[in-house]
Amino acid sequence: MDKILVLHGPNLNLLGTREPEIYGHTTLEDINRMLDVRAREAGLQADFLQSNYEGKLIDVIQQASANGYAFIILNAAAYTHYSIAIRDAIAAITVPVIEVHLSNIHTREKFRHQSVIAPVVLGQICGFGVDSYMAAMEIVICRLRREEKA
Ligand code: DQA
Repeated sequence: MDKILVLHGPNLNLLGTREPEIYGHTTLEDINRMLDVRAREAGLQADFLQSNYEGKLIDVIQQASANGYAFIILNAAAYTHYSIAIRDAIAAITVPVIEVHLSNIHTREKFRHQSVIAPVVLGQICGFGVDSYMAAMEIVICRLRREEKA
């Protein structure tokens, strides 16, 4: 069974109460539950981790291949905009990463327009709330099915 790692960065543990006018009322637990249901339906195993620590995120990105993950869905939150260390960790591995954001980072404050990880990920999905994550999961499912057939 293919395994997917869903990684959430800093402050995403506060979803539901954190700036609901931007991030909505859905909690991180709700998001993980929805992703888990879809992954199981598709015959995949999804594992979830949220961390407020850059080093923890880097550790799990580095270990993704050894731990058997076929894909990473990553919301690096604020680290997106300045963590060269997370960017380098993604560049160092062969496991494909899809970058997601709940909000549209390109229509918000200027400092959010830049993603330092964007050049080293497969693609970026932002601005669709929870559906940014769900769309990423659909892409993972499509890609893995196509690989199975090939
Ligand atoms: C975010 C956007 C980031 O700019 C912000 O720092 C976050 C969440 C999003 O999902 O919209 O924490 O990644």
